[in-house]
Amino acid sequence: TTVEWEAASYDMGGHDTYMHKEIHEQAEAVDRVLRGRIDDRFSTVHLGGLNLDARDARAVRRVKILGCGTSYHAGQIGAQMIEELARIPADAEPASEFRYRNAVVDPDTLYIAVSQSGETYDVLAAVQELKRKGARVLGIVNVVGSAIAREADGGMYVHAGPEVCVVSTKCFTNTCVAFALLALHLGRTRDLSVRDGKRIIEGLRKLPAQIEEMLKQEEDVKKLAAQYADARSMLFIGRVRGYPVAREASLKLKEVSYIHAEAYPASELKHGPLALIEPALPTVAIVPDDDLLEKNRAAMEEIKARSGQILAVAHQEQEKADHTIVVPKNEDELDPILMGIPLQLLAYHTALALGRDIDKPRNLAKSVTVE
Ligand code: G6P
Repeated sequence: TTVEWEAASYDMGGHDTYMHKEIHEQAEAVDRVLRGRIDDRFSTVHLGGLNLDARDARAVRRVKILGCGTSYHAGQIGAQMIEELARIPADAEPASEFRYRNAVVDPDTLYIAVSQSGETYDVLAAVQELKRKGARVLGIVNVVGSAIAREADGGMYVHAGPEVCVVSTKCFTNTCVAFALLALHLGRTRDLSVRDGKRIIEGLRKLPAQIEEMLKQEEDVKKLAAQYADARSMLFIGRVRGYPVAREASLKLKEVSYIHAEAYPASELKHGPLALIEPALPTVAIVPDDDLLEKNRAAMEEIKARSGQILAVAHQEQEKADHTIVVPKNEDELDPILMGIPLQLLAYHTALALGRDIDKPRNLAKSVTVE
């Protein structure tokens, strides 16, 4: 197969940059990754391309997710979802590290390679190494017919459509949704109840409208970006579900605005990063309304007590924060998907305010097909 995108998809459609266009295409894109896959009768999803029957799915003892850059971060969110919904131990690792450490390849582990382009050399080499050792490898890939898609034993396309901007936005979101589908599927072949299956399906169906709602706050995010654009460095914190969101937001900011950023688990603040807190180092805190809300509030208090500025991304106004971006609430397990979106806007508007080359940041390439 060849890669076929319609020429119209490359049209800027009134946007000044592909990044802006792609951020605004996310509701449609999520609609596409869901389309035709939901099975209401059994509160599950159909993922025909996995080539994994129920017996195979139940035999999986661990899940190991491999990717690079943004795809690795989507994999971290995916691992969390798989653990929560399917109760299978799961983790993500940069493919580039995995392939050089003579990893123990286990026949009961399901390996998942994640890639927008499907061509990233380190990911492809990891897949080939795994297959050489007899492992089962699935691909979660955007570009149809790409090398990783062809090499994998099965998988899912994320149907984000063409992504042109070097930094990934809509493909990240769609990959997270694809992982939610996979986690639901694995969960429903095991002990996830019909009721929880329904709850997740309802949450998934709400996403496109909630994304639209989120994007309506763009002007507010733009104003915030203008306030933080002169920062030399920013700290991003979150915990459990929020931590990979913080990591991806930090990557997005550095890639496109060239502002130094670091992500840290909020729980680790006291083991080092608190020493950095001062008015000139703003913190972005990811604060979902889940079991860890109080813990996150306590972390914000620690930062405030040291005169740090805080921008919270939360489900309701946070009084400890200087500013809050309020994100629509979904099911706890799916919250990371929506929380990433205002942070894409923050990175975008910061880069715009600084006059950066948004679609082609210096020193970076869309797909890294060499070692
Ligand atoms: C490059 C891009 C990143 C991307 C990474 C992985 O570094 O600049 O935006 O996340 O490759 O790309 P992939 O196509 O495998 O998702």
